[in-house]
Amino acid sequence: MARKFFVGGNWKCNGTAEEVKKIVGTLNDAQVPPQDVVEVVVSPPFVFLPLVKSTLRPDFHVAAQNCWVKKGGAFTGEVSAEMLVNLGIPWVILGHSERRQLLGESNEFVGDKTAYALSQGLKVIACVGETLEQREAGATLDVVAAQTKAIAERISNWADVVIAYEPVWAIGTGKVATPAQAQEVHFELRKWLHANTSPEVAATTRIIYGGSVNGGNCKELAAKPDVDGFLVGGASLKPEFIDIIKSAE
Ligand code: G3H
Repeated sequence: MARKFFVGGNWKCNGTAEEVKKIVGTLNDAQVPPQDVVEVVVSPPFVFLPLVKSTLRPDFHVAAQNCWVKKGGAFTGEVSAEMLVNLGIPWVILGHSERRQLLGESNEFVGDKTAYALSQGLKVIACVGETLEQREAGATLDVVAAQTKAIAERISNWADVVIAYEPVWAIGTGKVATPAQAQEVHFELRKWLHANTSPEVAATTRIIYGGSVNGGNCKELAAKPDVDGFLVGGASLKPEFIDIIKSAE
């Protein structure tokens, strides 16, 4: 079964209401490939989710950048999966390296979050990726396998999961992985899924790449057989995001 190209825009902790309206306006005016060719999901900060959801073109969807690990309650500052569902937000990004590194989210915690979000009906963009130190130590595949295993141990249905491979050294640095480097890890991740979940999950789960993707480097990356799309940070705030979406064709 062919895997539909997926382009996510992670706006991270950026933007004012005015800037958000401008980005949405640019997206709404853009000519992009049809929905059966590319799935587009943008992820504004929590406070802008209702604004973006209510003004964004209907063929693009919205993701939150995080959610709480279980049912809401006395967890000050958190946003629960139930709240996202209540607002009609279909997607959530979990396990982004900025949260793993800056907020100490462990593989197990990300796995628990993924399982809970799926149980509530959210679709999950689950992020994995190694640091420069880990890459230089030759541990890349072990690291991404361990991160994926913590998710695989807690879920049985992968239909609503997209894996985002985001090498930490490539995020926000302008130092994009080469197409060969991305393909190698995506291929190994798919092999890992084949051995540890099922051949069907391996064949159908989208593995997208993130880390300094821009309008100039997206086409070459998209041409690799196991690169099923992108999770874009900085460039998703700019008009070149449209070019990245178009790399699906
Ligand atoms: O979630 C997106 C990634 O962190 C990539 O960010 O495109 O700014 O390098 P970047």
